[in-house]
Amino acid sequence: MKETIRRLLKERRAILLAHNYQPSEIQDVADLCGDSLELSIKASETDAELIVFCGVHFMAETASILSPEKTVLLPRLDAGCPMADMITPEALSAKLKVLGPMPVVTYVNSPASVKAISTVCCTSANVLAVVESLDAPEILMTPDRNLARYAASQTSKTIHAWEGYCPIHDRLTPEAVTAARKSHPDAVFMAHPECRKNILDMADAVLSTSGMIRYALTSLHRSFIVGTEAGLMHALQKACPDKAFYPVSAAMVCSDMKKICLKDVIRSLETLEGQVKVPESVRVSALESVRRMIGIAG
Ligand code: 13P
Ligand code: SF4
Repeated sequence: MKETIRRLLKERRAILLAHNYQPSEIQDVADLCGDSLELSIKASETDAELIVFCGVHFMAETASILSPEKTVLLPRLDAGCPMADMITPEALSAKLKVLGPMPVVTYVNSPASVKAISTVCCTSANVLAVVESLDAPEILMTPDRNLARYAASQTSKTIHAWEGYCPIHDRLTPEAVTAARKSHPDAVFMAHPECRKNILDMADAVLSTSGMIRYALTSLHRSFIVGTEAGLMHALQKACPDKAFYPVSAAMVCSDMKKICLKDVIRSLETLEGQVKVPESVRVSALESVRRMIGIAG
C-alpha cells in the first residue's frame, strides 16, 4: 500500500504531509512529518499541485488558507479536533464585547472562521514569540486555556484565556506523572503546553511535538517520559533509536488523529475525495492571521 501511495503521489504531483500524532505507517509514507507550525510553513512553500494532509480538519483548512490554488485533501473528513469545536466566531465576538477591544491570539487548533476575526495565530512552538510581538498590555488567547495560562506564566502581559482545552492533554493527572517518574527515575519529563499548569510545573521541559524531538536529539540524557499524544512515540524513536521513550500515560491517545489509515490515503488520491476548501471571504481574513504568525516564526 505504501508503494501504491508513493506512485499515486508522483502521478498527481502531490505531497503528503503528516502530523507527528499520525499512525506510524502514515508517518513512514509521508514526505514530511512535523508539528503544526512546520506543516503550515511547508504547505505555504510547496510547489506540489495537491496536498494530502494527514492530520485533523483545522490543519487541512490552514493548508487551504495558505494555498487556495492547490487541492487539499483530508483523507477522512470526519477527523476533527474537539478543542477547535470549543469556539465559534459569534462567541468570540460576544467575549470581546465584554472584555473590550484587545488583540486576539488564536491557536491554529481552531476553525478558519475564528482565525478570520483574530489578530494573529500561534502554535505551541511559537506562542511566546507571538505574544511578545504584540504591542499591547492585554491579550485574549483562544481556544486553549492551558496554552494561554502557560503563556501567561512566561510574560508580563495580562492574558485572558478562552475556556477551551484538548481532552487528551487536559486529562493527564499529576498522579500519572509521579507514577511514571517513579518507574523511570532517570528519565527527563517533557510536557506539551496543552497540559494543565500543575503538569507543566512538574515538567523538565515544555515543548511542541517537534520541539520534543529536537530536545531529545540534542540532550545528553538517555531516557525521556513523553507528556503528549502517543503518536509522537514513533517519531521520537525513529529520530533517536538509541534513546528510551516512555509514554507518561497509556490514556493519551487522540482518536481523531488515528482515523486515517493507508487505505483512506489511497482512496483519496484515486478519487480526490476529501477536499477541504475555505470560502474566499473567510480565507482572505484568516490568511492575514496565519501569515502574521509565519512571519514571526521566520
Ligand atoms: P504541535 O504538533 O504543534 O505541538 O500540536 C499539537 C496538537 O495537538 C496538534 O493537534
Ligand atoms: Fe485536538 Fe488534542 Fe487531538 Fe490535537 S490531540 S487534534 S488538540 S484533540
